[in-house]
Amino acid sequence: MKKKLLSAILATAMMATVLTGCGGSNEQPAAAPAAEEPAAEAPAAEEPAAEAPAAEAPAAEASDSLADKKVGVCIYQFSDNFMTLFRTELENYLIAQGFSKDNINIVDGANDQATQSGQIDNFIAEGVDVLIINPVNSSSAETITDKVVGAGIPLVYINREPVADEEQRWVDNNWDVTYVGCDARQSGTFQGEMIVDLGIDKVDMNGNGKVDYIMVEGDPENVDAQYRTEFSVKALTDAGWEVECLSDQVGNWQQDQAQAIVANALAQYGNDVEVVFCNNDAMALGALQAIQAADRTVGEDIYLVGVDALSEALENVLAGTMTGTVFNDHFSQSHSAADAAINYLTGKGNEHYIGCDYVKVTQDKAQEVLDMVK
Ligand code: GAL
Repeated sequence: MKKKLLSAILATAMMATVLTGCGGSNEQPAAAPAAEEPAAEAPAAEEPAAEAPAAEAPAAEASDSLADKKVGVCIYQFSDNFMTLFRTELENYLIAQGFSKDNINIVDGANDQATQSGQIDNFIAEGVDVLIINPVNSSSAETITDKVVGAGIPLVYINREPVADEEQRWVDNNWDVTYVGCDARQSGTFQGEMIVDLGIDKVDMNGNGKVDYIMVEGDPENVDAQYRTEFSVKALTDAGWEVECLSDQVGNWQQDQAQAIVANALAQYGNDVEVVFCNNDAMALGALQAIQAADRTVGEDIYLVGVDALSEALENVLAGTMTGTVFNDHFSQSHSAADAAINYLTGKGNEHYIGCDYVKVTQDKAQEVLDMVK
């Protein structure tokens, strides 16, 4: 009897992580603001930098000393589109700074924390000089930090932000550990603002006085997914709009999962669906397939927003088949991560939080950003 009860509780808990349910993202506490985090209000950084930051040539001295340094890079999953852009740029930039290609080892965690932990152990055993880690589970950060710091190796976390308590330990112990990433609240806010800018009359097509939306979430353990889900809708309510969540489900950043989720939601709620929010562009592209298969037209009878500014998404924004996206600046993040690694290696050290800005991309900005990312 007890066993049955336990498995029922476990099953319910597991369901909660898969089927988030409308408003359900609040059940998963978002990471508390980071120690040295940017202000809660999203800065109004809407202007893309004119050019992708160029990989500046390093001083001869620095590049000599970097040529024999070994860098271990752990990526949570190679098949993730955004992290593919990130790691490619990271490798190019490290080489441009003077590292030898042979000394840069980038490995695929295959979305499995045990696999990644084994890779970290191997890097430590090999004696790498610095580690750059995109954790599979942010909740494993404490264990990872302990291992890496214990081995005397400086550590740069990227993309998946550890919780505030973990970041505070780096500060308190003055460890050579930092996090490089953007504040995901800003990306959510920008998504919501792009909808608000359309005006309520255009968006509330069924005239029920509310915005009826579908939310497709990334990995719920990831603070990016939690914040984008929360802050996209908050931008609508902050504008004084009423909202109705028709469906909120986890698509794990994946196009095919999002396509199935949105196809089902459109079949269930039909023309009542006015806005589809996707936590990233890969899922927005899946949503678009479902929208088109259901004979709906973005910009006419439904609106769709994503995050990342993948080339394909930008082309859709240009064509009007996506309402907008938000540029997740993989240039600035990968360069900052490499620079942070260099600062540890050269003894300069780093702050324990290194931020960057997202950029809102509607049709009028899409070409500019496309030219930058292509
Ligand atoms: C996000 C990005 C997603 C996915 C995720 C992986 O910042 O928007 O597309 O790559 O990181 O953690």
